[in-house]
Amino acid sequence: MCGIVGYNGSKKAVDILLDGLSKLEYRGYDSAGIAIRDNDIEVFKAKGKLSNLKEKIENKDLKGTCGIGHTRWATHGEPSEVNAHPHVSNDGNVTLVHNGIIENYQELILKLERHDYKLYSETDTEVLANIIDYYYKKYKMGPIDAINRTMVRVRGSYAIAVMFKEYPDEIWVARKDSPMIIGKNEDGTYLASDVPAILKYTKNVYYIDNLEAACLKKDKVIFYDLNGDEIQKELKEIKWDVSAAEKEGYEHFMIKEINEQPDVVKKTINSLVIDNKIDLSKTGLTVEEIKSFKQIYIVACGSAYHVGVCAQYILEDLTRVPVRVEIASEFRYRKPILDKKGLVIVISQSGETADSLAALREAKNQGVKTLGIINVVGSSIAREADHVLYTLAGPEIAVATTKAFSTQLIACYALAIEMGHVKRKINNKLYNNLINDLVKLPEQIEYILKNNTKNVQKISSKFSSIKDAFYIGRGLDYAISLEGSLKLKEVSYIHSEAYAAGELKHGTISLIEDGTLVIGIATQEEIFEKTISNLVEVKSRGAYVVVVAPEGVDVSKVANNTINVPITNKYFYPSLTVVPLQLIGYYITISKGLDVDKPRNLAKSVTVE
Ligand code: F6R
Repeated sequence: MCGIVGYNGSKKAVDILLDGLSKLEYRGYDSAGIAIRDNDIEVFKAKGKLSNLKEKIENKDLKGTCGIGHTRWATHGEPSEVNAHPHVSNDGNVTLVHNGIIENYQELILKLERHDYKLYSETDTEVLANIIDYYYKKYKMGPIDAINRTMVRVRGSYAIAVMFKEYPDEIWVARKDSPMIIGKNEDGTYLASDVPAILKYTKNVYYIDNLEAACLKKDKVIFYDLNGDEIQKELKEIKWDVSAAEKEGYEHFMIKEINEQPDVVKKTINSLVIDNKIDLSKTGLTVEEIKSFKQIYIVACGSAYHVGVCAQYILEDLTRVPVRVEIASEFRYRKPILDKKGLVIVISQSGETADSLAALREAKNQGVKTLGIINVVGSSIAREADHVLYTLAGPEIAVATTKAFSTQLIACYALAIEMGHVKRKINNKLYNNLINDLVKLPEQIEYILKNNTKNVQKISSKFSSIKDAFYIGRGLDYAISLEGSLKLKEVSYIHSEAYAAGELKHGTISLIEDGTLVIGIATQEEIFEKTISNLVEVKSRGAYVVVVAPEGVDVSKVANNTINVPITNKYFYPSLTVVPLQLIGYYITISKGLDVDKPRNLAKSVTVE
């Protein structure tokens, strides 16, 4: 998705903008641009990588200390220099960068054409720049009036940063349903669509809400509501470590983040287990509320949805409350009938995923309580959910999630254990045993990383030229197969599918032929024999079988290769088995020479539907 960065202060803006944009590269983009204000506003844009933009401005002496920058991920119009941001209104009055989508832009084009505006790109952003200019000139009431009139007129989602020719010392911003933070330090004010872009410069930020605007001066930020009245905001501190957004000697962010899992899982456990007891007080959920839930809905996208599938098995088992897990993009449009005594859990690393946010709003519209399991503090879902359980994964830069996924699992375990206990579905003994096993997970993940990485790397080296892979398992092993399969396909571009092991023979087994890679996950004791039988079925049809199983469990009769994980409680195996599956995705991808951190066509945070 697109990225925005801006700076207004005493330092050279070009360096801060380019550095900020480089921190947003992970979000995925196909062109980039900056606008720097010295006396005039100068705009530079380039198709492709940020390095192309850097080349263009290499020999320019850009002294301006105020500017905006953008990385574009094409929606309206192909990736090209003319479609890249910033966009400038016809006579150069308004210069603007934009994230999001303007839904009624066709209608706005007709309006602009009626007033003799010309459009040179295929983007909805250029429309927006000219609409702001139109209102600015029509009413002659200055930037906030023009921006607010535009916000009332446009439909869709946006975070915008605007420079007006006649207001040389200011950057104006506004947002609706697209992320934006504003930072401040002693040398100036900053804006960004995502924390890592400005983390190096300041940890003090303001969160701007939907349909609000702000004016960034060099030494202060003034906020406005939709009426144009000034509003007050509190400066908040971001707890993330600057080093968490740097590679720190690792070749890729993905492997760095895989290796950060013991630490972030531990931090998340420590925030939820206090004195050997689950403590959900930070979420604001009361015991009475937890007791009252008669139905749980989990809504999420992609890997976060896979966490939901794991959670469904665990929550139902431990609480005996029915759980339904749904893909957010389906949930929002299927007119769900929600139980008023239910709880809707939205899981999201970014807290900005458009479909997950829409699902949350659907639940709230129906008057159902909501809980967000969110990694980014101050994100839209975190702000709108009734309750929030923060995962402590820190900034996740690789597009493919690893450490955030692992912390989301922990959040779900804690919730399931507490809910089961409060509802008296699990006794004190089981409660204590579960917590004992839970707190061991960080060192067990560390153990896998230390002792199994070489083995996984060796096994993976055989598969760089395969065309297909299948991941199978039953119960929680099926749930984690979904994630393993996604981890492989999204970064290596190898076609891969996950199947409930018992389902394979209802069609898909016909795809198995000599040498097809099948990765079986077999940790669940009660259904172990059945999974093994399914693996025997594929092996006898020629499959090459890799089995992920607990230490001491004999899978030699079926496995061509085995990957062991330490023994844990049956509910917690996803936290261990996911680690070798992440490593398989990583190592196969780097052996193919692909960009593992930024897979093609993908964006880190999907803020459009
Ligand atoms: C896959 C991946 C995505 C995200 C999904 C939801 O590796 O990262 O599938 O899990 O886009 O994103 P969030 O959690 O930000 O809502």
